[in-house]
Amino acid sequence: MYVLPAINMVGAGCVNRIGREARRLGGTKALVVASVGEVGEAQAKQIGDILQNAGVDAVLFPKAMPNPTEEVITEGAECYKANNCDMLAAVGGGSAIDAAKGIGIIAANGGEIADYEGSGKVKHVLPPFIAVATTAGTGSEVTQFAVISDKSHKKLTIVDRHMVPTISVNDPEMMLSMPPSLTAATGMDALTHAIEAYVSNKGTPINACKAWQAIKLVADNLPIAVKNGHDITARENMCCASFLAGIAFNNAGLGLVHAMSHPLGGHYNLPHGLCNALLLYAVCKFNLTQETAHLFAEISMALGTGRGWGSDRDNAEAALKAIKDLQHEVGFNKGLKDYGVKRENFSMLAELALLESVGKNNPRRFSKEDVITLYEECYW
Ligand SMILES: [Fe+2]
Repeated sequence: MYVLPAINMVGAGCVNRIGREARRLGGTKALVVASVGEVGEAQAKQIGDILQNAGVDAVLFPKAMPNPTEEVITEGAECYKANNCDMLAAVGGGSAIDAAKGIGIIAANGGEIADYEGSGKVKHVLPPFIAVATTAGTGSEVTQFAVISDKSHKKLTIVDRHMVPTISVNDPEMMLSMPPSLTAATGMDALTHAIEAYVSNKGTPINACKAWQAIKLVADNLPIAVKNGHDITARENMCCASFLAGIAFNNAGLGLVHAMSHPLGGHYNLPHGLCNALLLYAVCKFNLTQETAHLFAEISMALGTGRGWGSDRDNAEAALKAIKDLQHEVGFNKGLKDYGVKRENFSMLAELALLESVGKNNPRRFSKEDVITLYEECYW
């Protein structure tokens, strides 16, 4: 089985075609979910205008905050029903798209969002759903995952193929105003998705070709997009990277970087991409074994550091160095200590990391002590 949206648009200006596609899906009125605040309101209006120009009515719902909550999901589902909507659109980063997934679950299935925590619990398929990404990294526009906070602020992870958007949109023109720090963090998230999918226990040749190309695109384009956010070619290539990495991890799963970054980001309220950027090198070093050396050697070729005459081990070591160099080049030059992380919490964070289901596809088994050691390595 291979899961991805039915239609995928990537390229400059492609967002302008969603009105026509919405009509072809049979939609007459869309709930447009976006992030709370000025930027989200403007993005919701832009998407609403495109839909309305194509004859599809739009109800704007720019209320998704980072880590969307159960309350917002419930309010969104009520708004969807009260306005007799028959399709969903989401515009934003992972939070807005995840909120739309939650709203779609409740609109199609009823109940409360906590009822759907876990895997495969969504009975009825969501309404037609267009997801427009405004960052190049999270991959939420192509995946079957959503993270929602319940009433006690506990994060619920929902996994279900019924949540995959019908149409994904990655338009670099929607990303031109992203500041360098967000470009860097989301880009490192895309790189982490691609690397974790490439070395995953669930890796397949189909995932490998997507993940490898995503790694190459990030290595070649992320530093340019960070330095000059208006370089449309670099932005478009980062869209391709994010899209490919998203599809790869949607099917191959993730690994220990995400298992460690989720509790870290949740406890210290640190951005997801930043946490991954700070952890990626150390976890890759941990994952480099005799069994995985050939995979990291192949990654080294994508990063531009592999040599045809080099041994797998040498090329794999070069990949690790390239990952660290890229991390520094895009601005992540500090350790966990500089972000206010406290050493005394490592044991608690490690216990939470062991509970993360995303870690189960990591190529090397790990213990609580291993995870504490890895947090320690990133603490400087
Ligand atoms: Fe991620």
